[in-house]
Amino acid sequence: MSDTTAAKIDGKALSKRLLKEVKGRSEACAAKGVTPCLAVVLVGEDPASKIYVRSKEKRAAKCGIATRDHRLPATTSTGDLLGLVDQLNKDPKVDGILVQLPLPEGVDSDAILLAIDPRKDVDGFHPENLGLLMLGRPRFVSCTPQGCMRLIAEAGVDLTGKRALVVGRSNIVGKPMAQLLLKANATVTIAHSRTVDLPRLVGEAEVLVAAVGRPNFIHGDWVRPGATIIDVGINRLEDGGIVGDVEFEGASERAAAITPVPGGVGPMTIACLLSNVVDAAERRAGISAS
Ligand code: GUN
Repeated sequence: MSDTTAAKIDGKALSKRLLKEVKGRSEACAAKGVTPCLAVVLVGEDPASKIYVRSKEKRAAKCGIATRDHRLPATTSTGDLLGLVDQLNKDPKVDGILVQLPLPEGVDSDAILLAIDPRKDVDGFHPENLGLLMLGRPRFVSCTPQGCMRLIAEAGVDLTGKRALVVGRSNIVGKPMAQLLLKANATVTIAHSRTVDLPRLVGEAEVLVAAVGRPNFIHGDWVRPGATIIDVGINRLEDGGIVGDVEFEGASERAAAITPVPGGVGPMTIACLLSNVVDAAERRAGISAS
């Protein structure tokens, strides 16, 4: 055992503060006659998606954000779903549209994400929003990477010139995460399933963001002493426990700061989603430009 233990970066506390701010901004919109509104589309019966959607809607209500709930059967066609998206795009009272992923196999997810009005794309998944992020002019930034950046700021880390490693290259987390770190002037590496010698890369990283979805994939003794670790993984073990992608105990002995799982990135994701909804509502209310 080393005599140092990493500070825990408390995502629960930070998300509470952010939600309070979102609520205040939402009330300011309402005072101008604009109730922020999120349309939530869930297709099929995926149990995890049902839980996520319910908690997003519950949180939204607590922040004064209205939700429109659209539940469709797993047999829904791409055409039918495109019809619903078109209707929501045209509805002036809807500020944000969230189509919960994954969609059932028969639905063309790319076509659906492309059809969402980029100005209502509070998930930040539309190619236009991803493109703006790549250009360094973000509009809607996807919620998990946005939450990670807020957690890094909370840890007091100045990313300028830092070596940052993102493990995972998904369109939802890994790729936008790398862009945000780059925008904050970090020197960024993206590792993935074909990367050679991951332990060496982890050992060099001053900031590590793990988003692979495999329990305890990053060994604690790979971690660079003094590193800041953001663990995006939420992995359920056979015994019912939940762990991240990083071996927490071992990593805590070497890192300066680390997010716990649960209680780290998870609570931030919903808070960032609702912050994006209020961003859109503020534009509608004329509170913010563009
Ligand atoms: N499925 C898992 N995470 C997400 C998310 O952030 N947004 C949507 N729309 N679906 C998801």
